[in-house]
This record gives sequence, structure tokens and C-alpha cells, in this order.
Amino acid sequence: ASARAMETSRFAFTPIAAQTDGTVHVPEGYGWKVLMRWGDPLFSEADGYDITDGGPVENSDKVFGENTDGMETFSFQGRQLIAVNHEYPNEDINLPASQDGKPVSADDVLKLQNIQGVTVMEIAEGPDGWNVVKDSPFNRRIHHNTPMKIVGPAAGHDLLRTEADPTGTSSLGTFNNCGSGKTPWGTYLTCEENFNGYFGSTDEAASHDEKVAAGFARYGIKAKSWNGYEGFDPRFDTSKNPNEPHRAGWIVEIDPTDPQSTPVKHTGLGRFKHENAEVVLARDGRVVVYMGDDERGEYLYKFVSNGTYQPGAETEGLLNDGTLYVARFNDDLTGQWLPLTPETTGMEAAEILIFTRMAASKAGGTTMDRPEWVAASPVAAEAYCCLTNNKNRGVKPNAGGDDTSANGPNPRDTNRYGQIVRWRPADEDHAADDFDWDLYVMAGNPTVHADAYAGSDNMNEGNLFNSPDGMAIDSTGLVWIQTDGDDENQGDFAGNGNNQMLVGDPVTGEIVRFMTGPNGCEVTGLAWSSDLRTMFVGIQHPGSNWPDGGTPRSAIIAIKRDDNALIG
Ligand code: FEO
Ligand code: CA
Ligand code: CA
Ligand code: CA
Repeated sequence: ASARAMETSRFAFTPIAAQTDGTVHVPEGYGWKVLMRWGDPLFSEADGYDITDGGPVENSDKVFGENTDGMETFSFQGRQLIAVNHEYPNEDINLPASQDGKPVSADDVLKLQNIQGVTVMEIAEGPDGWNVVKDSPFNRRIHHNTPMKIVGPAAGHDLLRTEADPTGTSSLGTFNNCGSGKTPWGTYLTCEENFNGYFGSTDEAASHDEKVAAGFARYGIKAKSWNGYEGFDPRFDTSKNPNEPHRAGWIVEIDPTDPQSTPVKHTGLGRFKHENAEVVLARDGRVVVYMGDDERGEYLYKFVSNGTYQPGAETEGLLNDGTLYVARFNDDLTGQWLPLTPETTGMEAAEILIFTRMAASKAGGTTMDRPEWVAASPVAAEAYCCLTNNKNRGVKPNAGGDDTSANGPNPRDTNRYGQIVRWRPADEDHAADDFDWDLYVMAGNPTVHADAYAGSDNMNEGNLFNSPDGMAIDSTGLVWIQTDGDDENQGDFAGNGNNQMLVGDPVTGEIVRFMTGPNGCEVTGLAWSSDLRTMFVGIQHPGSNWPDGGTPRSAIIAIKRDDNALIG
């Protein structure tokens, strides 16, 4: 950048170059430290837990889980709490004795079930930086067998009932917890994304009624699960429990301040491959939740509550009593939120929530290039969504047969790089039906391509990245972007280096590189300490032997300025 550009830049650091090595880099004047790694104890009884040879099943529910993802911080009674997701297991690390990385015993399955889900933990900052408070009364693991309540308009529906739960109102576990959200009343939202992969059938010939079969097809529930749960735990066997998959794919609310509380699945927010849940308030205090469905050619949604949020007042129903909408983006840079109702979809109300994808198809939403995180600005009435990439754009329809020809916010066939769409609601009110939109950035590589794959004007040799995924907007309005893309650093992706975190100016569109992760990793999850002097960032599936030279371990790192100044 020119001297003048540097002078006027809102960024407080000198951007860093792309990196291809096995560690984390931050700008000069900043430092980082590991806060918590997969396998680190949350409780003294798990001291010495050793993942070197995969780790034992004993105490696997008392250590920090694997593959950290979305996270949020909470301040409670002067303590700093973090709730954080554990998305999925790396079988080769966790089950090294197994031939193909698949479980060979019920204990193997139990171990995988234990290391996924959510961790709630208390952390504290001392002379050596941030550490977990071992044995804190707030420390908690929530995993694939934790009891959950199912509430909202679809609770109790026939499609949610099983032999173990004939009421359709309680289930076990939360699955493939990807992105996150935080409510104005201080609870954590964890989002069930690729839940389909946990279910399979021990009887491939088992037939299902028409609705169930159509749902399995649209949501990708297949004869074989990823980890073979169905062979050891009949709950995951769709030939015996065809409704069990309907009890996953929801957004789950957790009270991080009450370790005895039962997590709640909110059916009002719809069922799909939930990325994250960005909660904002409409001008009149109604609760608005923006949500992406991360699948090629699926949709972007929002929920608007009927009731309003009043600090200190009852919040029950605010995530269930309301209307779910799907986004339609018009080519003229306008758009509408289309309500999903029996009138617009021809479906019954509860089925709209259970099979939300089908409802969105019927209502006429715009097929998107894999909507990942949505982030809303705290200083302007606008929101952003990372559309990470879509090799099927213009190539084939989505699983519902919906056309995926290039469209306004998804303009490139076989989209390898991804883009970030931004919208501004009418009347600066997130509850409004109408909005205007633009593309904040179209990722691309101007050093390789001269056409649309060069990307938008705010891509340059100094900020090359692909596949934007995680995103959060800080208290000053800057847009932090995390990537989960191709890090081979060649061909289309030459100069991209490892996955990384960048920051963008919402007004000028300038985007610069702030952090790079170790090779093989995805950077995902971002939250700030209550004093805004520390930024917590997640490193998922590092490919090298990061962070300590042995078995690679996903981990949360804490980033601070050397002068301890504000960092967001
Ligand atoms: Fe788990 Fe779409 O990322
Ligand atoms: Ca993601
Ligand atoms: Ca991704
Ligand atoms: Ca991931």
C-alpha cells in the first residue's frame, strides 16, 4: 500500500505476508499463546490424559474436545467463561489402532462421541497469560449423549418421536457443532451442521415412508455413516430408528452459567446444516436470527420473533414463536425475505421446520454458494455472509433439484474462491422484508487470472485468500474473516499460503492479512475477552505436528498486543 493509504488505514498493524510453515504468525507488536488443546484436562481427575496414541476412553468426556470451532465468551459474576464447539473427530488421530480409522468397538464409538459437542470452561488471565481454571464449577462437557430438550412448534411431532422418546420432546446429544451464536440474554447457541454423517443403516434394504425417504435424500442421510456408529449404537441405525436423524440439524441453546441446565433444541429456527446463528435485535426489540445452510446450492435464512426482548424479562419463546424466512436476491441488487408458511409452501407448519430445505425450495429462495458464517455489524445496519465456494454452481442442481445457474450474489460457475455478500435491511431494521445487497468481496487470484476469477478490486497480491468461512465484526465495525480453503499454494491458489485470518474495512473495502495458521489447518472461531484486550482464535485440524511437535492438536490460541492495548 502507498504511504498515504497506510496513513489513512484503520488497521493498527502492518499486514503480514502469506506463510506456508507449520506455525502461527501474527503482526509485529502482537503475540500469541496456546490457551487449550484437544485432550487438555478440564478437571483434575483427567490430569495426565495423553492423546499420543489416541487417548483412552476413560475421562475422554473430562478433557477439551477435538476440532475446536465456533466459540463465544461470557462475563458472569466477574468470571470469564468460554463456550466452544468441537465439530468432528479426526479418526486417524483418535483411533490409530483401527485399520481404516473406523471404530472397532463400542468403546471406540463412545470415545468419538465424548470428544465432540461443546466445552464450557472458565478461563483466567495471570502473569503467564490466559489459562483454563481447572475444576471450575462452570467447566462442562456436552457431547453425543448429553440429554437435551426439544421445544418449539415442531416439538412432539410424529417425525420427532422414537421408541426411546415417544413424546418427541427429549433427545440425546448435539452433533457436528460448527458455528455459534450468542443471545442478548447471555446464552450460547451451538449449530448442528453435518449431522447426516452420524446416521447409517445396518439393513440397507430397510424401506421408509415417503416423507422420511425424501428427507433422507434432501439432507444426505445415507446407508453408511462416517464413523460406523450404527453398528454399535442402535440409536444411529436408521433401519431401527428412522426418526432419530430428525432430532438433529437444529440450533441448541446452552446456559453457560448453569452447568446443571439442560440444553434446548429450538425447532422454531428450522432444520438444516446450520453454520452459525447471528442474533440481532430489530428496532422494536424483536429477535432476529440470521442463519446459513452450508451446502452447495442451499439457502440463507432469517428468523424474526413475534415477541420482543426486554432485558431481565422472560425470554421463553423468543427463538420459537415467530416466522422463518428464506432470502431471495434479485439481480438489481435488491432482495426480499420470503416467509415460509403453509400458504407459501403448501406444507404443514411443523413440517416446514423439520424439512426446511424443501420449504425454501417451494417458496422460491435464491440458491447460494454454501452459506457459512453470517455476521452483523454492531455499528451499522448491515450484515455479511461468507459464501465459501461451490464447485457445483452452474454444473448441477442441488439435492432438491433446484436450478443453480449463476445468479446475482453467486455470479461464477464452478466457484473455486468464494465471496462475501452484504445486505442492508430497509429502514435500517433487521426485521424488514426488503433489503439492498452488494458483494463486499469476491475472492480470486489477480496474479493468475484476468477474468472474473481475478476477484473484485479489493483483492491484490498482498491479501490473497480463498474460501472465506468464519467471520465476526468487532466493536469498532471491522470485519474479521477466517478461511477454510485450498492451502496447496499453487495453481489457482498460488500465493494464498496457509489458511488465515484477515480483516476488512467495511467502508473502503480494504482487506489485509492479520494472522496465518499452521499448514493443513482451518482457522475458525473468534471471540474477544470481556476487556477486548485478547482475541481468542480457533485452529482446527492442523496438518503438521502443531502446536508442540507431536501429534497435531486442534487448539484455541489467545492473541494480544505487546502493549496490552485494545484489540477489537
Ligand atoms: Fe463446519 Fe460449514 O463449516
Ligand atoms: Ca465453517
Ligand atoms: Ca468451510
Ligand atoms: Ca471445519
